[in-house]
Amino acid sequence: MIKEVAKLIQGALKSNKIKLSLEEIEILIEIPPSHEMGDYSFPCFSLASKLKQNPHEVALMIREKIGTEPATDFDDIQTQGPYVNFFLDRKNMARKIVWDAITFKEKFGMGDIGKKKKVIVEFSSPNIAKPFGIGHLRSTIIGNSISNLYDFQGYKTIRMNYLGDWGTQFGKLIYGYKKYGDDDKLKKDPIKHLLDIYVRVNKDKKNEKKAREEFKKMEEGDRGNLILWKMFKGFSLKDFEEIYKRLGIKFDALIGESDYNKKMPQVIKELENKKLLKTSQGARIVNLKEHDLGVCLIQKTDGATLYATRDITSAISRYKKYKFDQIIYEVGQEQTLYFKQFFKVLELMGYEWSKNCIHVGHGHYLDSDGKRFATRKGKTVFMEEILDKTVSLAEKEIKKRESKIKKEDLRKKANKIAIASIFYGDLKNNRSNNVIFDLKKFVSFEGDTGPYLLYSYARATSILNKSTNKDKFEVPELNPKELELVKKLSLFPDIAFKAYESLNPSLVANYAYQLSKLFNEFYHSCPVIGSEEESFRLALIEAFRQVLKNSLNLLGISTLERM
Ligand code: ARG
Repeated sequence: MIKEVAKLIQGALKSNKIKLSLEEIEILIEIPPSHEMGDYSFPCFSLASKLKQNPHEVALMIREKIGTEPATDFDDIQTQGPYVNFFLDRKNMARKIVWDAITFKEKFGMGDIGKKKKVIVEFSSPNIAKPFGIGHLRSTIIGNSISNLYDFQGYKTIRMNYLGDWGTQFGKLIYGYKKYGDDDKLKKDPIKHLLDIYVRVNKDKKNEKKAREEFKKMEEGDRGNLILWKMFKGFSLKDFEEIYKRLGIKFDALIGESDYNKKMPQVIKELENKKLLKTSQGARIVNLKEHDLGVCLIQKTDGATLYATRDITSAISRYKKYKFDQIIYEVGQEQTLYFKQFFKVLELMGYEWSKNCIHVGHGHYLDSDGKRFATRKGKTVFMEEILDKTVSLAEKEIKKRESKIKKEDLRKKANKIAIASIFYGDLKNNRSNNVIFDLKKFVSFEGDTGPYLLYSYARATSILNKSTNKDKFEVPELNPKELELVKKLSLFPDIAFKAYESLNPSLVANYAYQLSKLFNEFYHSCPVIGSEEESFRLALIEAFRQVLKNSLNLLGISTLERM
């Protein structure tokens, strides 16, 4: 609807020879604090100062130029001082929005800007032989939601997981395993044992040289080392699979840094031919100082490749394979400079598509005392433990409300609530901000939380289930609560688009919360079943339920019919 308002204003300005784009106008449009002031309002201050005119006169001018044209969507358009206020034809709007939501269902709010376009969203990307830590959880949650946002705009989205399965750290691990490895411990809890070995190797600086040698051997194809490495990778993959299953996350492509080993020499050659490689203290680098980006290390003195070598290679081969229109790397903010360097190298290599490479960063999880959450008292926090803990918190909450619930139902419900808690607890924050990882708060059934949203959804379902009314709905005179809910519903397509455009799922998360709050207010003040407005109110609830579901889907959260 905001677009219609912007178009009217644009038209009015045009006939006065003032050119403003729809976006420029949209940014200025406000939603007035009360319905008496209209549904949308255009303040004329900035325009007036540009035109060196009085804002009130500008408002009058716009009003006059709009004339009587927009008979269908608006009841009235008025000026009030420096504002032009737009009053929607509310009944008409309510009919249209409710009908659209009920009819288009999970497609309601979708856009088509991504039609025939392909995007790769790379996210999660944990490192093998290490526990899936909380560090990779944020990328997993945000990357998944961004993929959903792209899908929703009609893109062909490729969800990609890029495992950290190559690099000097595996030299350390193999060296450590040969020295401290214990087959029994490895069988019992492989990831834990490998982590212990890794920590032990790192304690002694003297191990470093030996570890580098082991990695060198791996890069040269040493069979023994590669067999060990494959075994470690197998353990990790099993571990990760389990976690993704619990989180409800799926990927279209699972690849590892190691998959590009064979192609790296070619790329190094290419860098050489393009005169980008310099030797510095025996290592080979691309000098980016001219671009204020330091240097990008491509090959160490002993010939070993690096993270960047593999990323450059992988980007080139991904482009060859997918011809993507965009590639998004959802990786923690601490790698921002690194991504700038690696994108710059691609640009200097002459790859035009490097401008379509985007790094999407995020802040950290913090403990309640403000420290980074990755470790607790020096110990790594395992994802499994976090999930188990969240599930048991959820179970407690459920049992408070439903003491007789069957064990299996409890499990199922608690799992879903746990995921909603964690996902929403993260996504309600702007991704660049740090997030206090407070599971108790996340799981609370009240307040701005995932369970509150699931609860609102289930409440809507239960009302709909209670009714047998199948009448077509008529829109009555709307009361303020209904009107607010209708208006909020009408914003959904716009919100989904803005969240996609700004790579910011928190817009959808916050929207879902506000929407649910309005629904609960509506529900508390307006009787539904048996009321005169029953058919309309039921339809409104159904529309709400659909839009909330669509919002939650965008966040990667699945709904529960009963709480
Ligand atoms: N595995 C890496 C890490 O844990 C993240 C990989 C990010 N993606 C990339 N293309 N570099 O830090």
